[in-house]
Amino acid sequence: MSLLNILRYPDPRLHKVAKPITVFDARLKKLAADMAETMYEAPGVGLAASQVDVHEQLIVIDTSETRDDLRVFINPEILWTSPEKQVYEEGCLSVPGIYDGVERPARIRARALDLEGKPFEVEADGLLAVCIQHEMDHLKGKVFVEYLSPLKRNRIKAKMQKEERGMKREVERAVR
Ligand code: NI
Repeated sequence: MSLLNILRYPDPRLHKVAKPITVFDARLKKLAADMAETMYEAPGVGLAASQVDVHEQLIVIDTSETRDDLRVFINPEILWTSPEKQVYEEGCLSVPGIYDGVERPARIRARALDLEGKPFEVEADGLLAVCIQHEMDHLKGKVFVEYLSPLKRNRIKAKMQKEERGMKREVERAVR
């Protein structure tokens, strides 16, 4: 397995729309395993393929305390959302260090395929419901900061770009 590079907001590649997966082979299993390893190492509770610059509909999630309940969702669809909403403090591995409240349906029912291509359904609430919706947004090219006000979003963008420049300078110094 190997760790994958996570794209950082505002990288334009985060806004690409992911394509459905049609081939359930060893390549797909390796991609899912590498994404899981990358998520655990980060550490994070979810990762979408879009975040590692693979624009295919694949998500890995583990919202358990014990970090041993890996869920893989391929070509996920939302079947139902509750009328009740909840505001959850969200973060994202592509926007490190930024957390803010996002309002979404509190409960959802989703359908997806597993690594063998077999369909399954899941009902979720709490953090899992938030996470599935957040990761599915990534597949549509949407990052959670897009739910925030333009003012907040621009501040976040500026902060990320400043950090990016700082990291580049450090790399340049290291290779010199
Ligand atoms: Ni995210």
